[in-house]
Amino acid sequence: MRLLITGSSGLLGLNLALDATRSHQVIGVDRDTLRSAPFELCNADLLDPDAVYRIVAQSKPDAVIHCAALADVDVCEAKPDLAYQMNANLPAQLADVCARRKIRFIHISTDAVFDGQKAGVYVESDLPNPQGVYAQTKLEGERSVMQVNPMAIVARVNFYGWSLSGKRSLAEFFINNLGAGKTVNGFTDVLFCPMLVNHLGEVLLAMLERSLRGLYHVVGPQAMSKYQFGVEVARKFGLKDNLISPQSVDKSSLTARRSHNLWLSTHKLSTDLDMTLPAFSTGLDEFYAQYRQGYPQKIRSYTQKQSG
Ligand SMILES: NC(=O)c1ccc[n+]([C@@H]2O[C@H](COP(=O)([O-])OP(=O)(O)OC[C@H]3O[C@@H](n4cnc5c(N)ncnc54)[C@H](OP(=O)(O)O)[C@@H]3O)[C@@H](O)[C@H]2O)c1
Repeated sequence: MRLLITGSSGLLGLNLALDATRSHQVIGVDRDTLRSAPFELCNADLLDPDAVYRIVAQSKPDAVIHCAALADVDVCEAKPDLAYQMNANLPAQLADVCARRKIRFIHISTDAVFDGQKAGVYVESDLPNPQGVYAQTKLEGERSVMQVNPMAIVARVNFYGWSLSGKRSLAEFFINNLGAGKTVNGFTDVLFCPMLVNHLGEVLLAMLERSLRGLYHVVGPQAMSKYQFGVEVARKFGLKDNLISPQSVDKSSLTARRSHNLWLSTHKLSTDLDMTLPAFSTGLDEFYAQYRQGYPQKIRSYTQKQSG
């Protein structure tokens, strides 16, 4: 399969591109951030007029996985117009081009479309109620994609892993700070379902292979608080979990409002894929094994912006 991956310098896009390149022909879309990546690169600012048409026409993919986004929730609050362009307009444009050319399309969305007020687990048919600019624009993106391209897959995700900057994911946040002996807060009242980014990539490719379509929750099968996640990561890495202070998110200084309950059901996904999703402990074991094997350094070596 010729696979076009946008956001190929991002946490998801880079890990996915690196993994997928083993069995597929990968073309990553990049804004001059990567160097010597082991896959083909197509340089483009996706907000440039005609960029979408140009990259699709040039790369002639069988499938597009759209990972590029304005994914920093606080930056979205500060730059709502840019957030709208990136998270709502752009996915619709890409989805439309793919529909016209009969190219499979996966759009990456977020668990944060829910307000977190539900007492139990969220299923795909539950009504979203986004709380901030990021979530609002992502939901708008989902809806426009489904409207122009009903064959598309819309995947609501949440993941952790090793990133190009070394600080994009929540797991890296805990490891960096605890490793430096610093105390951090861990939210006890934000529930989520983290999945190792590499497992997410495998599942997305399986969804393409199975020709799934429509809306799916593509998260880890186990819900936990962000505090509990920090403690699990700390213990696995031999770091001091008592440096993590349990705290309520409502008492934090974060700009954008965070939903309390982002426990998403993966029943539809595992049924349609006919597979058991990897357990949280399996993901964490693999994340630690990657660390032992120098994967974080390998990922960071692909950055353009190196000193010296
Ligand atoms: N991280 C999570 O846990 C999480 C949770 C829920 C949903 N998501 C969703 O998952 C997807 C991937 O997130 P992520 O964490 O991998 O994001 P990320 O690390 O912030 O990466 C964003 C990517 O988008 C690219 N990009 C931004 N603006 C661009 C533009 N104008 N033209 C071309 N490329 C542009 C960035 O390129 P540069 O490197 O050039 O800036 C980068 O490669 C997003 O849709 C996000 O909403 C993430």
